[in-house]
Amino acid sequence: MSPEAIRIAAVADVHCSKTNQGSLRPIFAAASDMADVLLICGDLTDYGYPEEARNLVAELAPVKIPVIAVLGNHDYESGNVDEVKKILTDARIHLLDGDSVEVLGVGFAGVKGFGGGFGRRTLEPWGEDATKAFVHEAVSEALKLESALARLQTPQRVAVLHYAPIEATVEGEPREIFPFLGSGRLEEPLNRYRVAAAFHGHAHRGAAEGRTSAGIPVYNVALPVLRRTLSEQLPVRIVEVSVPETVGIGETAPSRRRDDPQ
Ligand SMILES: [Fe+2]
Ligand SMILES: [Fe+2]
Repeated sequence: MSPEAIRIAAVADVHCSKTNQGSLRPIFAAASDMADVLLICGDLTDYGYPEEARNLVAELAPVKIPVIAVLGNHDYESGNVDEVKKILTDARIHLLDGDSVEVLGVGFAGVKGFGGGFGRRTLEPWGEDATKAFVHEAVSEALKLESALARLQTPQRVAVLHYAPIEATVEGEPREIFPFLGSGRLEEPLNRYRVAAAFHGHAHRGAAEGRTSAGIPVYNVALPVLRRTLSEQLPVRIVEVSVPETVGIGETAPSRRRDDPQ
């Protein structure tokens, strides 16, 4: 039987380093106490070194709730991504890359995403092969997100991303780097599947919250954003998503949400 609602704790861009010793532990411990599931939205490590991933697993020791994560660009930097993935999945982290997982009646679909910009200024696949390859990567990530959402049969779906799907949550960053912070191609699947909420990171100087063109709430949970906006409180975003029991499979229920930052 599903609960009436689940509480989601979300954070991103923890950039766990080789020298990290316990600084993330209180954040993760508090998230575990306050929520039913913890999302870590990419840039789990600083350079993607296996040692950093092992440090992150140690920092997650107090967490007693399911952990769902996507990788970020930093997790690819040193070229050890396969080993990093193995360390994280061996620690029973649900690492999503075009995959989905269900927790307490809510479906979570995750991809890293990619850049390319937003709206009318979105980069198009035209001209040099390098430009086409860049755009292809963004399109591929959006298709992976769409497939992951489509596979979920839960009445409520949540998207877990690293790159931003809308411009509103990168506002505050220098405009020159907007195209490298996210892609509007990720927005369409969120609208089509009417997700209850989408979470991302990557835009360290972005805005904490925005909405897609269909009104879907989007939360930028990059650690520096949470530190700035939640000030005295622990930098974890808590969002509650309802779990209606009366909705048939494949339908999307109106969600009751309470955003309760703590
Ligand atoms: Fe980051
Ligand atoms: Fe990033």
